[in-house]
Amino acid sequence: MSNDTRNLQAYRASLLHFHADPAFAEHAAAWHEDGLLLVEDGRVKAAGDYAQLAPTMPPDTPVTDYRGQIITPGFIDTHLHFPQTDMIASPAPGLLPWLETYTFPTERRFGDPAHARVLAEFFLDELLRNGTTTAMVYCTVHKESVDALFEASSARNLRMVGGKVLMDRHCPDFLRDSPDMRESEELIGRWHNKGRSLYAITPRFAPTSTEAQLAATGELARAHPDTFIQTHVSENQDEIAWVGKLFPQQRSYLHVYEHYGLMRPRAMFGHCIWLDDTDFARLADTGSAIAHCPTSNLFLGSGLFDIARADAARALVSLGTDVGAGTSFSMLQTMNEAYKVARLKGSYLPALRMFYLATLGAARSMQLEGTIGNFVPGAEADFIVLDPKATPLLARRTAGSDTLEETLFALALLGDDRAIRATYAAGRLVHERGQ
Ligand code: GUN
Ligand code: ZN
Repeated sequence: MSNDTRNLQAYRASLLHFHADPAFAEHAAAWHEDGLLLVEDGRVKAAGDYAQLAPTMPPDTPVTDYRGQIITPGFIDTHLHFPQTDMIASPAPGLLPWLETYTFPTERRFGDPAHARVLAEFFLDELLRNGTTTAMVYCTVHKESVDALFEASSARNLRMVGGKVLMDRHCPDFLRDSPDMRESEELIGRWHNKGRSLYAITPRFAPTSTEAQLAATGELARAHPDTFIQTHVSENQDEIAWVGKLFPQQRSYLHVYEHYGLMRPRAMFGHCIWLDDTDFARLADTGSAIAHCPTSNLFLGSGLFDIARADAARALVSLGTDVGAGTSFSMLQTMNEAYKVARLKGSYLPALRMFYLATLGAARSMQLEGTIGNFVPGAEADFIVLDPKATPLLARRTAGSDTLEETLFALALLGDDRAIRATYAAGRLVHERGQ
């Protein structure tokens, strides 16, 4: 397999990608049973039916044959914590004890650049094994953790979003920073829009920031309007009661962030479980987005996200693993749990919608449509090869599928890293199963 992204490369497989949200538009999905993806200079040149596109390519174009598999855009995970990789599956009765017992001691070690580098490489390996080509990543309060992430992701030419956690109260002294934004400024200058790296201003959550820090964070976000913002909101009942005590003058937990200028396009709010309809409307009106993290919410017993209410408000929705409170790096397993959470809320999430949420829906939530998330010409060629026969059980189940929806549903419910045959970033093979 050539690593040369200059040359034209072709991939023959079934192709699936989206032009719109299947919950709101007919014909939102583009499906080419015998499809061809043409990639040049790391970007999509064309995607369509093999019979139509094959005659348009020069006769010596190398064609990688993935027939029997499905090529989709790489998955986009809009909420997870790379320093929490080693503490995934740590038991605790709820969010706040989990943070105290496991999270803060684990994050402490990321002041050591050597440790941060090792974890950043492992973390990226794990993302790519699971078909995730872009993620919105929390680092720790240490700037070394941000450098480690972006050094590793830029060496692999990945479209990656990350940022230094901000917290200056209600945390151990060894993780406490201040309202001084100079380190974040420096990191924005070093990494934002450098190659494929993008910076996210990352206040951990309202309870661990003073009002002075939230105000400074809002100023920073205003000064850099095309950076991302990421934080947690309305995850857990104890947390919400705490925020109510700390910010009694604000209408709601979400409104604390709005008050400090942290709701805008490219702001990503993790969880959003206990919001009211005014909150959902504010998310939609400000162009802010939701990262729904079902494996985390079930694991910590935080609650059940209500996608129907988010949809009714036309809020932007995406999916996050929230590792290490999330229990899997796999966006397929995240879909599996999102489906069940929706059922428990009386909704129904078709597989086609879940694949939209993990690709174009996330790109739209991040204001990156046209760059990642689908196969429009010029988009960065981040794509994965899904194997519907990855396991004996998947093979039996998908052999009996009558529709695309059934095949995708089986992949979401039964699939994990084993279903990812290959992962490509900017046209380059970055993971091959079994290699
Ligand atoms: N709220 C504040 N910090 C965290 C975190 O690290 N994980 C989760 N799930 N929620 C949080
Ligand atoms: Zn989180």
